Amino acid sequence: MSLRAKPDAVVLNGLPAFASPYGTDVELVDFLEQVSAHLCRWLSTAANRHPLPSLGCLPDIAPERFGRNARQLLEDLDQIMDRAYQPNHPGALAHLDPPPLTASIAADLVCAGLNNNLLAEELSPSLSLLERRLCRWFAERLGLPQGASGVAASGGTLSNLMALVAARHAAGLQHDPNACIVASRDAHVSLQKAVKVMGLREDALQLVGTDDQGCLDLVQLDWLLQHLHQQERPVLAVVATAGTTVSGSVDPIPKMRALCDRDGLWLHVDGAIGACFALNPNTSTLVPGLKEADSVTVNPQKLFGITKTSSLLLLANPSHLKTVFGTGLPYMETSRDGEHGGEIGLQGTRAAEILKLWLGLRQLGEEGIQHVLQSALERASLFRHYLNDEKFMLRSGPLHIVSFRPCGLLSDQLVTWTADTRQKLLRQGIMLSRPFYQDQYYLKAVFGNPHTDERLIIQLAQQLLASI
Ligand SMILES: Cc1ncc(COP(=O)(O)O)c(C=O)c1O
Repeated sequence: MSLRAKPDAVVLNGLPAFASPYGTDVELVDFLEQVSAHLCRWLSTAANRHPLPSLGCLPDIAPERFGRNARQLLEDLDQIMDRAYQPNHPGALAHLDPPPLTASIAADLVCAGLNNNLLAEELSPSLSLLERRLCRWFAERLGLPQGASGVAASGGTLSNLMALVAARHAAGLQHDPNACIVASRDAHVSLQKAVKVMGLREDALQLVGTDDQGCLDLVQLDWLLQHLHQQERPVLAVVATAGTTVSGSVDPIPKMRALCDRDGLWLHVDGAIGACFALNPNTSTLVPGLKEADSVTVNPQKLFGITKTSSLLLLANPSHLKTVFGTGLPYMETSRDGEHGGEIGLQGTRAAEILKLWLGLRQLGEEGIQHVLQSALERASLFRHYLNDEKFMLRSGPLHIVSFRPCGLLSDQLVTWTADTRQKLLRQGIMLSRPFYQDQYYLKAVFGNPHTDERLIIQLAQQLLASI
């Protein structure tokens, strides 16, 4: 048997399964153009659709014997798209899932085509370098000390986990099952996962109360740290949240830093929501103290529309990452310009998600970054203004998230009011979420959607006022 010098591409039903390395495939170009046209149609008809379509039939799951041609593949895609959550709808206000940035969509497509691997430099030379440089740029913008840097990961949950594993190692507590983590009761549930994955005790997540603004209570933190010390429970990290999930509250990071310094503790800031506000000088005052953290999670996917996923973990001293996650990669060449991506994080093979973050921010520019941040804040403040806080109890920090419930309703009534009102609004194309927070149901609106205009905000506030 001999291999032909120029093997035929696998062509099924007229569409090459792999792009020819010898010349342009007109069928492939045509297919990608059509896919792109379908996607643009899906995005551009969002306002006539619904943010949350009903889940009808899906296409068959199993591959057919002889595969599907380009037209049939597009039909398959259309069926999934028609039933997908529609972030581009102006009424999509439920979560931290904004419309996708156009340059980020393009970069995602190119990322798939490049199919590079951030595991090792030789599998992603330009992209490994891009990731290192962009992490350094972010660290600098957040005000972290010179030399600070980090690594990208699939989402904030993973960034938080890696930070805590690094903190534990730095404290020399990797073999101590009694080690614990201290955070506020409003911290994200990803910390609970971290405790499980790290094999810590069930009570390893020690929670501190919050004040009426949803910010960690410093007196309680001080007391708890002393109490844990007396109990001989070592603390591997204190976690501050810059932008809590329900109210967008920002913990008092500088004062938490002072307590950590007193006790020699690692301070991790979960800035999955809030750290992006530090990218612009006009909004950075909303999240003071990031520069004093040992590690920071930042999730540009949650606000800038960088397509999922886009999360960075930044460390004041990034060498901790190599110490914890470095295994040696004996089947790879040594990297020339820094560490292999697979040696400074938990993930092995990893897509070059940095491309869409980089291109997205390049598209926005400084002015665009500022506009995204400020307009989100303005929409939230308009909503607070129209909602009338005498009738509603608001849970809303300084960012773009507003949770609320009518004053004077009992718990049972709140269950019904939140569920019914959410459904009513959904029928009008406005999607809010319904968090369960401190033993009560709330409705929550996240104002990161640039298509949400004042008219819609007024409509939302009027509907809410009419519902009580
Ligand atoms: C404050 C905070 N941290 C972490 C996360 C986890 O991020 P991800 O869902 O990207 O894993 C979230 C998610 O909403 C969050 O709100």
